[in-house]
Amino acid sequence: ISVLLLNGPNLNLLGKREPEVYGHETLQDVVKRLEKVMEEWDGDLEHCQSNHEGDLIDAIHRAKGVHQGIIINPGAFTHYSYALRDAIAAVELPTIEVHISNVHARESFRHHSVIAPVVIGQIVGLGIDGYEWALRSLVNKIKK
Ligand code: DQA
Repeated sequence: ISVLLLNGPNLNLLGKREPEVYGHETLQDVVKRLEKVMEEWDGDLEHCQSNHEGDLIDAIHRAKGVHQGIIINPGAFTHYSYALRDAIAAVELPTIEVHISNVHARESFRHHSVIAPVVIGQIVGLGIDGYEWALRSLVNKIKK
């Protein structure tokens, strides 16, 4: 089993960026944790973080035929990137959307996700634990 973990803009600053909202753990901590989880199934995890919409779209396109599913935290692109949404719809890979913070308890522009209709489901507000639950659920789905 091979899964693509995608993180969007500003998530490279995880741990330093607004720690009261996003916590103190870094993106590297997230990746290490998910790699460990993947070992349970002898699986592979590829990670890609980019601050650029086109890079994320390219990574989604490349995932087709290489990975069986995608975990994505699109950052602020969540709220307005139809291009990212179309890319996810195009590759038809099972995808789970993760948000570290509870976007529904924050500014109203964060309440809407244009990505949500093309993913299996969302995990919101559970901190970086959300990535692990997303991965476990995705692998269960892939194995079925
Ligand atoms: C986020 C929520 C988004 O609204 C924000 O723009 C982010 C991070 C989250 O993980 O909580 O960059 O996706």
